[in-house]
Amino acid sequence: MTDGSMNKAMGFQPFNNENDIIEFACQHYPAFASGGFFSVEEIGDGNINFVYRVSCEEGGSVIVKQALPYIRVIGEGWPLTQDRIRIEAEVLQQQAIHCADLVPEIYHFSAERCAIVMEDIGQLTNLRDLLIAGTELPKLSLQMGRFLADTLYFSSDFYLKSPDKRALVARFANPDLCQITEEVFFGDPYCDHPRNNVSEGVQTAAKALWQRRDVKAVVAELKATFTSHTQCLVHGDLHTGSVFADRNQTRVIDPEFAFVGPAGFDIGLYFANLLLNYCRHSAIEGGDHYQDWLLDQLEQTWNTFSERFCLHVDEYSENAELVVPEYVDSFLANLFADSLGYAGTEMIRRTIGVAHVADIETISDSTAKAAAENLSLKLGETLILKRRELRTIADLRAQI
Ligand SMILES: Nc1ncnc2c1ncn2[C@@H]1O[C@H](COP(=O)(O)OP(=O)(O)OP(=O)(O)O)[C@@H](O)[C@H]1O
Ligand SMILES: [Mg+2]
Repeated sequence: MTDGSMNKAMGFQPFNNENDIIEFACQHYPAFASGGFFSVEEIGDGNINFVYRVSCEEGGSVIVKQALPYIRVIGEGWPLTQDRIRIEAEVLQQQAIHCADLVPEIYHFSAERCAIVMEDIGQLTNLRDLLIAGTELPKLSLQMGRFLADTLYFSSDFYLKSPDKRALVARFANPDLCQITEEVFFGDPYCDHPRNNVSEGVQTAAKALWQRRDVKAVVAELKATFTSHTQCLVHGDLHTGSVFADRNQTRVIDPEFAFVGPAGFDIGLYFANLLLNYCRHSAIEGGDHYQDWLLDQLEQTWNTFSERFCLHVDEYSENAELVVPEYVDSFLANLFADSLGYAGTEMIRRTIGVAHVADIETISDSTAKAAAENLSLKLGETLILKRRELRTIADLRAQI
């Protein structure tokens, strides 16, 4: 049964018009139950789903996100399972158990509508835009370190009993979205794939990369870890466009790519996106100070994460056999190496793969843009090859 016919069998009801969306929001957002004058606008700047803001003239607003049985920007030519929206809703609810202040609140999930009603976090700004503007955010890394420690620890074998962990793996299998990740991370960028988008200034470096057996051997290992290592429930797409922030608050959205996999995948993607922004600031005038700030954020995120993870291990671990100090040390050392490796794959795929980042794409001077792209590729390769050699954030800083 194709996904489309499966959805028909389950009775999927798309929204037919704006009134449908408003009615759905009013049914499931208690603050709207008493009525008012409502309006709706489509605000999604993403590629995959439809995101609407429903506002009440008398005050208040809410977000409705709906997954159709295909990718929004491509249309019916690229079908995609609607189970992604169930995964997103359930992961956000799971994350809220331990860090409710760091994710949007879910008010309702409807399997028939394949839609979520959730908190509007529109008062915050997309982190990628903030980094492009060179904004310093004093609480960001404490909050991201806490997000990573809580979401990863409480879904790990340290905390969960074996049957619960195995149930979590099954519940978030997410085969279709994992397949997309596998292709765009570990496949396309290491060959002359038609989906790639290799700009003129980075052609030579890309062609050289396609010949690198040493890099491909490590990427194969990273892919095998991605497919086989059921370590923690990971967000699966933790780039800076999935984070919203201001000077005091942070929220992480859009975990539709979540699955139980290597914890280093989340840490690595987040690091990589800070480093992609580092590459931008290395290529534009006056970026030095901000580059230092970005490296400080890598350090503070990792330190907050690892200290809190260790505290959780001591305080909450159900699985006593794992709480051996030497094992916890080697767990963190391996996690750091995985994080650097996945960071490398993210930097490479965001530079020459199908989906680029605004941090680099919006550099208007073509020479500066090529410099940023080449730095990103070089840094990506280095992180992949030296992921075990660079043991601390200080080593990483020195290398950069
Ligand atoms: N809870 C929310 N509050 C306010 N704005 C939101 C919320 N959720 C999403 N948005 C807005 O909609 C945009 C797209 O959301 P999201 O990234 O979840 O959609 P998507 O289609 O899954 O995107 P992608 O292609 O990145 O996977 C966000 O960048 C943000 O501007
Ligand atoms: Mg998404």
